[in-house]
Amino acid sequence: MPRNWDFGSDKRLFQMSRETVPVITIDGPAGSGKGTIAVKLASLLGYHYLGSGTLYRVLAWFSLHHQVEADDLESVLGMCETMQIRFETFGEDGEVRVWIDGQDISDRLRTEECALGASRLAMCQPVREALLEKQHGFRMAPGLVAEGRDMGTVVFPDARLKIYLTASAMERAQRRHKQLRKQGISASLDDLLAEIEARDARDKERAISPLRPADDAVRVDSTNLTIAQVVQHVAALVNN
Ligand code: DC
Repeated sequence: MPRNWDFGSDKRLFQMSRETVPVITIDGPAGSGKGTIAVKLASLLGYHYLGSGTLYRVLAWFSLHHQVEADDLESVLGMCETMQIRFETFGEDGEVRVWIDGQDISDRLRTEECALGASRLAMCQPVREALLEKQHGFRMAPGLVAEGRDMGTVVFPDARLKIYLTASAMERAQRRHKQLRKQGISASLDDLLAEIEARDARDKERAISPLRPADDAVRVDSTNLTIAQVVQHVAALVNN
């Protein structure tokens, strides 16, 4: 079965068919491992992958790159419409590369500057609405694994399976600590824990698309599980 169907100009047929494409959503707080799990699950199932946080980061990068002020909504929304984004996933670790208009900008998206810009843009309702259509565009046969904060609640409410992935704040701080140490960066565990708790509070308390599990989501706590165990558990749920 081809992974990209060409529906030509019959938009009605495209709409009808797109809604039948299965979607699995994985939402959860920062550091819960949802990105890694989503990539691995997509690879296991042969599905497409959407990392929705990256879309906000890409817009932030675009704004910085083109020196667009964050409150210049017209320009930001114009970028939403024209950007051509592609995810490339590969490797044992489920590495994701992000291509914009034919350019690999993955490393530039990981900066603090982009993270900050992304979190500001994520609080802007017109931006969220503009990105909605973009996110729906990733729903292609044979299926999609979409991860973020509001995949199951707002973007794909009709998803076949919704996972809400959590881990204790301390476990997430320890994972981040280990990751930074691997990169040769020293950081205090207490500071990382405080940062994670502050980010959780911001994500859950914001007025627009707050982080919360969908009513029909399955909660998975990854605190005492390995990545492989979480993937196995979620894959079993998919096949149920
Ligand atoms: O997961 P991340 O750190 O790459 O996300 C970047 C920002 O986008 C972060 O502030 C949370 C926000 N975000 C969101 O509001 N909704 C999503 N579906 C995904 C991310």
